[in-house]
Amino acid sequence: MVEATLFDAFDGGGEDLFFARIAEAIESNGYCILPVGMPEEVVLPLARQAEQAAAAFTTAKVGRGESATKNKFVRRDKIAWIDGDTEAERRWMAWTERLRIYLNRRLMLGLFSYESHFAHYQCGDFYRKHYDAFKGESNRILSTVLYLNSGWTSEDGGELEIFDADNHSLTKVTPLLGTLVIFLSEEFPHEVLLAQRDRYSIAGWFRLNQSVAGRIDPQR
Ligand code: OGA
Ligand code: MN
Repeated sequence: MVEATLFDAFDGGGEDLFFARIAEAIESNGYCILPVGMPEEVVLPLARQAEQAAAAFTTAKVGRGESATKNKFVRRDKIAWIDGDTEAERRWMAWTERLRIYLNRRLMLGLFSYESHFAHYQCGDFYRKHYDAFKGESNRILSTVLYLNSGWTSEDGGELEIFDADNHSLTKVTPLLGTLVIFLSEEFPHEVLLAQRDRYSIAGWFRLNQSVAGRIDPQR
């Protein structure tokens, strides 16, 4: 069962206080890890949906648009894009939209849109060290990961390890229900370590709009 205390830390301070923590951390460190503060009414329905819908998730691709390929040596997760088909998805999209507007105001990032997908790693799955975006080649600016797993222990593996640009390990994040990670997509290589049990998350990206005449920037 989910413990209510997970979500209590920002009660009273409200959403703006939580968003302010995120903005300050991104500004000073380029990344942040928030084990508490996500609203329960957003997280719990997503966790329920992930577990119920995972059987229909499909093999994730590496790369974007026409050059995307499937490579089981790089990543093993199965995914489903979030399009607002359920109440849980609509709450999540409304929350990320408020965060987008807040970050644009505070950090002048010019974030234009947000895309995200559920991910399911089964026992034995991983995602090798990668960047979510390469300098000048992508419009992914900020990466987010929200975790949806109750009762994750150190034996379950599956941590997100984040590195700096010199490949020094910065931290390992336990993928526990309600934990939110945000980082600059071009700055931090990261890796999902071998999971020893089913692992559910939502990975997402705030993007710039780089469609130009004659060439539509591919979503996803
Ligand atoms: C990704 C990713 C991290 C995680 O999907 O690009 O890095 O912890 N996910 O699920
Ligand atoms: Mn990634």
